[in-house]
Amino acid sequence: LLVNHDPRSSSQPFPALSSVSVCVRIQWDPEWNEVSTIFSYAARVFTNEFLLRGHGDMQGRILLALIVHGKHLPYKACFPNDGGWHHICVTWSSSLWAIYVDGERKDEGSSSDTSRDIHADGILILGQDQDSFGGNFTEPFFGNITDLNVWNISLESRHVRALNGCSAINQVMLFSWNLDHLINHPAVKELAK
Ligand SMILES: *[C@@H]1O[C@H](CO)[C@@H](O)[C@H](O)[C@H]1NC(C)=O
Ligand SMILES: *[C@@H]1O[C@H](CO)[C@@H](O)[C@H](O)[C@H]1NC(C)=O
Ligand SMILES: *[C@@H]1O[C@H](CO)[C@@H](O)[C@H](O)[C@H]1NC(C)=O
Repeated sequence: LLVNHDPRSSSQPFPALSSVSVCVRIQWDPEWNEVSTIFSYAARVFTNEFLLRGHGDMQGRILLALIVHGKHLPYKACFPNDGGWHHICVTWSSSLWAIYVDGERKDEGSSSDTSRDIHADGILILGQDQDSFGGNFTEPFFGNITDLNVWNISLESRHVRALNGCSAINQVMLFSWNLDHLINHPAVKELAK
């Protein structure tokens, strides 16, 4: 699935971002332990601009890591590989980043390598890594993804807790979940059940 739309206009590109938060609910296929990309935002000049990936470990957990401007941050935030729904939020503002799982901050840090703005006019893809701008998909996600929202600020813990509990927050969204704002990439095939 390809997301390159703004809720206010069907062709508005992503602006350059000095802060961003992405929250999403996922159900991870418990049989799948490989590295999987939950979402990837690629810019024309830099494909690994902002992405979230995860993989299963031997202790029955799914570990999550952010990549910002190509810098792979640690795999530490985790949730049990229990086949259930989990709420994940990632926040980033210049050098500070955090990963929240089910409303709790599970990892955070700062990295001077990540301080420039996120490039504008990128392509956001759900469930695949992009090895080229908008293409060459790798690291598929197996499971369900819903309620992915994007903000142009770094959300605070209280916002994330509210979202995890399905409460609304007042912050303006850059992208709000709506199937009409998603495009099926031509490579996506519907499989017979
Ligand atoms: C995804 O959702 C469908 C429909 O609810 C369900 O049948 C399926 O088991 C879910 N997949 C995973 C990996 O949980
Ligand atoms: C996609 O990958 C193939 C094989 O690695 C490569 O030949 C091709 O140039 C890539 N396409 C783009 C658009 O980068
Ligand atoms: C976030 O987006 C809103 C609405 O487009 C805009 O008014 C605001 O200035 C933006 N904030 C930042 C920090 O870019």
